[in-house]
Amino acid sequence: MMNRHFWNGKKVFITGHTGFKGAWLSLWLTMLGAKVTGYALTPPTSPSLFETAKIDQLIDSHKGNLNDLKHLQQVLTAANPDIVFHMAAQPIVGESYRDPVGTFQTNVMGTVNLLEAIRILDRQGAKIRAVVNVTTDKCYENKEWNWGYRENEPLGGNDPYSASKACSEIVTAAYRKSFFGQESLERVAIASARAGNVIGGGDWSEERLIPQCLEALIEKKPMILRKPQAIRPWQHVLEPLSGYLRLAEKLYEEDTQFYSEAWNFGPDLEDCVEVGSVVNRLYTKWGEKPNLKHYQTSMYKESTMLMLDCSKSKRLLDWKPIWNLDQALEKIVVWMKDYQNNAPMRDVTIKQINDYMDDFDKRKSSNESV
Ligand SMILES: NC(=O)c1ccc[n+]([C@@H]2O[C@H](COP(=O)([O-])OP(=O)(O)OC[C@H]3O[C@@H](n4cnc5c(N)ncnc54)[C@H](O)[C@@H]3O)[C@@H](O)[C@H]2O)c1
Repeated sequence: MMNRHFWNGKKVFITGHTGFKGAWLSLWLTMLGAKVTGYALTPPTSPSLFETAKIDQLIDSHKGNLNDLKHLQQVLTAANPDIVFHMAAQPIVGESYRDPVGTFQTNVMGTVNLLEAIRILDRQGAKIRAVVNVTTDKCYENKEWNWGYRENEPLGGNDPYSASKACSEIVTAAYRKSFFGQESLERVAIASARAGNVIGGGDWSEERLIPQCLEALIEKKPMILRKPQAIRPWQHVLEPLSGYLRLAEKLYEEDTQFYSEAWNFGPDLEDCVEVGSVVNRLYTKWGEKPNLKHYQTSMYKESTMLMLDCSKSKRLLDWKPIWNLDQALEKIVVWMKDYQNNAPMRDVTIKQINDYMDDFDKRKSSNESV
């Protein structure tokens, strides 16, 4: 878990702050006292957490395209951050089949542009110390194993999205070795973070399971299930975000390049479960009987089994999951019912972040007293 005091007064640059994970991270960082600058296109969905929680009132928000290096460079230079989180991407597998060129452009050249902008700024004497590039569990060559992938396993990707994220990993490693390594003048520590299927309140992405399921529940129509037996690593959005924060602290604070590599942030193995099980649990927590239609043929080739081995993050970053899948689903139900009741959603989201930090403290003190 991150050190709350570390973030007070830090200047943080986030790409993709208008997205699902970026909005949660922006809010959390402002709660910790960080000065956040965001760079992204407009929110990818409507509604969105970014607009619902009025995140633009809390941070310095810039609309911009990663593919516009000149503009990105200007905004980054003006922000002059200590720490950078790269979350902007085209993150949907289906969209990557419809628009492979755009997906590779954003996810690969977008990463190149950001790292290039950081390199140029560093040469001008800026003080950026830590960069975390957020990729995905899908960056591994999928072998349909019954165990989790470790960080040193081969990269791959059968679809354009997964392949683009594997490329983003290779770009990150190349920039690290070529420009940000110990042997060069620059001292920017740069790591990548690979998380699993992230869930939480405020995700309205049409092609993701939880938003689809919530829509079916609210509109009282059957939920169409694709690949109900597929196993995925499910985790609340705050879990990988706490890992990214912890990783950034280590990159910033440690002198060496020890942490400048890839890190997995996934749930415990008991929360790597079938798609069908997640849907059934969500219906039960909502207070409804499952109303499902199975749709056997998938338009796209998708893996059946995908899990992460997070031993390295647990051991070396002292990171671990706090909420299990059932707790994560309960938080989603509370968030969505509050949204339906027109509650102030920034306050609701802040409360969930505070609950998460409190649960971490409880877990820590109970471990220490054993
Ligand atoms: N949500 C998940 O389950 C999940 C799982 C693993 C990895 N990830 C990764 O986490 C990151 C964030 O995902 P998310 O779920 O928040 O996605 P999202 O679609 O909600 O947000 C994507 C963000 O990227 C921005 N963006 C897209 N193209 C851009 C461009 N060309 N220039 C500038 N900004 C651009 C959007 O405006 C938005 O702010 C992505 O890198 C994604 O691949 C997400």
